[in-house]
Amino acid sequence: MDQFTYRDGRLYCEGVPVSRIAEAVGTPVFIYSAATLRDHYAKIAEAFAELRPIICYSIKSCGNLHVIRLLAERGAGMDVVSGGELYRAVRAGFRQGGEYRPGKIVFAGVGKTDAEINEALDAGIGWFNIESEAELANLIAIAQRRGVTTRAALRVNPDVDPKTHRHTTTGKRETKFGVDLERARNVFNEFGRQPHVRLTGIHLHIGSPVNAIDAYTEAIARTLELIGDLRRDGFTIDTLDVGGGFRADYEGPGSPTARDYAARIVPLLRGQGLQVILEPGRTISANAGILLTRTVHVKQSGDKQFAIVDGSMTELIRPVLYDAYHFVWPAEPGPGFVPDTRWRGINFPGTRIVDVVGPVCETGDFLARERPLPPIRRGDLIAVFTAGAYGFVMASHYNARPNAAEVLVDGDDFRVIRRRETYADLTAEEE
Ligand SMILES: Cc1ncc(COP(=O)(O)O)c(C=O)c1O
Repeated sequence: MDQFTYRDGRLYCEGVPVSRIAEAVGTPVFIYSAATLRDHYAKIAEAFAELRPIICYSIKSCGNLHVIRLLAERGAGMDVVSGGELYRAVRAGFRQGGEYRPGKIVFAGVGKTDAEINEALDAGIGWFNIESEAELANLIAIAQRRGVTTRAALRVNPDVDPKTHRHTTTGKRETKFGVDLERARNVFNEFGRQPHVRLTGIHLHIGSPVNAIDAYTEAIARTLELIGDLRRDGFTIDTLDVGGGFRADYEGPGSPTARDYAARIVPLLRGQGLQVILEPGRTISANAGILLTRTVHVKQSGDKQFAIVDGSMTELIRPVLYDAYHFVWPAEPGPGFVPDTRWRGINFPGTRIVDVVGPVCETGDFLARERPLPPIRRGDLIAVFTAGAYGFVMASHYNARPNAAEVLVDGDDFRVIRRRETYADLTAEEE
């Protein structure tokens, strides 16, 4: 599942003890495992191989150029949602005539500006994922003015409940994303037969993370009905982008695997004459990364013990934003506290209930609450697991905190793939 393992009482990422990285680079630091990224991508590619899908890695989950390149080298396309993400994809090598083909880029987002649309047309992306009639009319006007032709997929909301956090539910009827199935028919009638934007695709993204595979099968079944109707009305529909949202292991192993999703989804799409696109983000990147922090102080307040670490909500906002659970455990827990697997490590005799919090001036600045942990001392390294997705990309500078470094481990080697910001970086645009 991932390549973070305890050996001889120390946490390793592949062949490298994470304490070595902390000594060399400092903390807080995001550490990614190249082998895990490759493995997760390969598992999706294998599971869905029969459909020959384009697997567009969702840059929003972890968009470091080196991560993008590593996945592009395996054949991945990219899912982008802004001019900035498109820029990252282009910088990584997705350019006209470049090493990675820009035709494998899909561009979603409810508020694409004219500048972003022009940049995407310049780059020659594969598909615009369209979220509203107004956006489509605008894209058509721009393409017409430029005398170019592009391709688009209409994002629809099949009105299923993915049973995830309310902030990450997107496929229900009342959402700012896409249009409902009934409206989709009208959009095709109004815009489906003009030359500059070939509206030949349907896009879905029901939410994230979605462990309930039924939500996908229900959404796809409803969408296939729509596709059947549209085809009967004479429209060409050649592409179905089923979006992202596949699970990651946050609380422990056991969430559905790529094979589990494929076992239910592939039979629905077999023989449908559709180019299938997948947009996985976290299922590739989440378990491929940890946030490594160092304990600054241990503090007792009433019955409660706090481990105050140098990582915070400015590096990982998921706990306070989504009530997200991230497993935390010392990187060098000492004899008697080494977990077989990190999920089984939590019931050792001698653990204490601890809140792991950051130094930011907010009560919401916590990484983990009420966790049984081995005795923690000042200076101890604490790893926050499953932090590869929606970690660094959601970082802020609140409290004037420079952004953390990012490190990529590959076998026995590691390298800094983004240097730690300095105080000078904080004020550079204001001088
Ligand atoms: C349109 C779209 N595609 C793909 C994703 C990736 O989701 P995940 O990282 O859960 O796979 C998202 C996430 O918000 C999204 O909005």
